Amino acid sequence: MRPVPPSLPVSAGPSLRGMLLLAGGALGFFLVLSHLEDARAEQRMLKHSWDIAQVLAQGLGEGGTQDLARLASVPGARFGLVLGEQGTVRAAWNPEHAPKALRDASRETQLLEEQAVVRLHLRTPQGRQGTLFVGLSLARMRREQQQQRQQSALVALLLLGVGVGGASVRGSRGALPPQGPPEQGGGPGEGSVVLMRQQLEAQQALLVSQGQALRAAQDQLIVADRRTTLGTLSAGVAHEINNPLAYITANIQFSLQEMQRLVKEGLPEDAAGEAPEDWEEVFNALSEANDGCSRVQHIVLSLKAFSCGDDDKREPTELAPVLTAAMNMARNEIRHRARLVHDFQAVPPVDGNEVRLSQVFLNLLINASHAIEPGLVEQNEIRVATRLGEDGRVRVSISDTGKGMGPEVLGRLFTPFFTTKPVGKGTGLGLSVCQGIVNSLGGAIEVQSQPGQGSTFTVVLPLSVSVLREALDEAPAQPQVKRSRILVVDDELHVGSALRRALGREHEVLVAQGAREALARVLQGACFDVILCDVMMPEMNGMELLSELERTRPSQADTLLFLTGGAFTEASSSFLEQYPERVLRKPIDMDVLREALRVRIEGAASGPPLAGRGPARSRPDHREPACGTSG
Ligand SMILES: Nc1ncnc2c1ncn2[C@@H]1O[C@H](COP(=O)(O)OP(=O)(O)OP(=O)(O)O)[C@@H](O)[C@H]1O
Ligand SMILES: [Mg+2]
Repeated sequence: MRPVPPSLPVSAGPSLRGMLLLAGGALGFFLVLSHLEDARAEQRMLKHSWDIAQVLAQGLGEGGTQDLARLASVPGARFGLVLGEQGTVRAAWNPEHAPKALRDASRETQLLEEQAVVRLHLRTPQGRQGTLFVGLSLARMRREQQQQRQQSALVALLLLGVGVGGASVRGSRGALPPQGPPEQGGGPGEGSVVLMRQQLEAQQALLVSQGQALRAAQDQLIVADRRTTLGTLSAGVAHEINNPLAYITANIQFSLQEMQRLVKEGLPEDAAGEAPEDWEEVFNALSEANDGCSRVQHIVLSLKAFSCGDDDKREPTELAPVLTAAMNMARNEIRHRARLVHDFQAVPPVDGNEVRLSQVFLNLLINASHAIEPGLVEQNEIRVATRLGEDGRVRVSISDTGKGMGPEVLGRLFTPFFTTKPVGKGTGLGLSVCQGIVNSLGGAIEVQSQPGQGSTFTVVLPLSVSVLREALDEAPAQPQVKRSRILVVDDELHVGSALRRALGREHEVLVAQGAREALARVLQGACFDVILCDVMMPEMNGMELLSELERTRPSQADTLLFLTGGAFTEASSSFLEQYPERVLRKPIDMDVLREALRVRIEGAASGPPLAGRGPARSRPDHREPACGTSG
């Protein structure tokens, strides 16, 4: 005889243990499932970021910062950086948002500090190498994951409750003898550990295959929901087709009879040269029949868009035709309850799937219709609107003036099988299917509702990557500036060498490590198109250099721009205030600097000298020495 241990976990019979296993399995299943879902969402986000970085890299000019600034139009973009071969920053957009561990980022795509970060190797046509980093925030994705986890946890808890409840009922009825091998010494021996591990492995394999089965089931559910919707609509669609068919038939029959009669009686005289009345009637009848054919064609096309097509296909999709098709399908369902109006603002295409998107909109339209009692058409409205949101995503809202929802309905809206409709009218799957479709496209559904006032469901979808690509491709190229001679005057050696490196491709850049050295060069006959000068320097400062140049070489004084890290004395700050056009601030964005140089260089060719815009200064009336080529 085997001993029957007394405690519950070991002594519980097969059914009791089965119950607990089921409950635990359910919990584990949902944990694994939400983990899998999280991993998939992260992968999608990384892929999306990779696409963005690729597009950006293609359009990246030599400068870069202006190109990177295009990230501002990408929803969720956090930063962009281009590093040179030595790791120096060549261009930056919002560099303060870059993760600290960025330079250690070894993989092409990875998650760092709640950002999807992409690292791309660059090589310009001129053979210049570098690395592009782009980061997109995970905040929105995390919020959506959180919502999904909450729903999964709720279902898991319910199943756990059922399992534990069942177990305790069984337990209270008396334990059955265990079927497993006998335990040595009452405690779990090595054999039982091995057994438990095998069971766990088997369970894990089961969970993975169940996860796959669930995903397949989700796809089937989407198709099933579409069929149900078609079923709901079939009477209405038949009505929509029968109406035009009725007058098409009547008009064609009338036309045939009339033509027979006219042929028999001979063509009537037409003295005035106008179409005789009889002919005009035939013409009108055929025109109306033609209109009817177009209506039927529309409905059939809408049905086709809804029921056929490759489900997994994702392509740039214009929303207006999809919405129009969904509205055509729902029109008959709505016509006795509300006016159906649309307010479409032009929006860019989204990456999606016509069939699934029309399924979403149709579900929302039918829900809106069901929220309105039939009869008061003029007082009710269902409005479909499209907008481009401030976050750069497309927003499609479907608003109704129906009964609205209280918090108890709002809180369970997307839970599968939640419905307030009578049996046969609703399955409670519509919104959960919609949410699944929209989430899979990287979007979200927002809901606003007031009991008795109506509801608005807004589908928010990201722009198509190809649109983004076009926008980036179409961005204006950086203007070409004539190659010029630039003297950088700064007592900080590294500032000079960094500027020489940054501007060296476009211009001839020379560096003077102080105002005295700069003045000496100019006095020796060197000429520069721009003198880019620090303000606070020992021995001779920028202000003193300017007045010396005005005295000795006024044309060179006109080329002077100040690049200052801050004016520390009252005299220097009031001096700089007099020359706003001449002052640039450190640290400076290289594209801002390039633009200032371009304005200065092109302005020198056409406009008044900069000194003319500052306070009037007396200029000595003498001829300047001619420019030499030495620096
Ligand atoms: N526009 C709306 N106004 C008021 N209540 C709504 C609206 N849309 C949805 N609801 C509520 O949400 C519930 C769930 O909607 P869902 O579309 O998921 O299922 P359903 O419409 O009941 O059934 P079906 O599976 O046929 O769509 C509805 O039963 C209803 O109570
Ligand atoms: Mg519904």
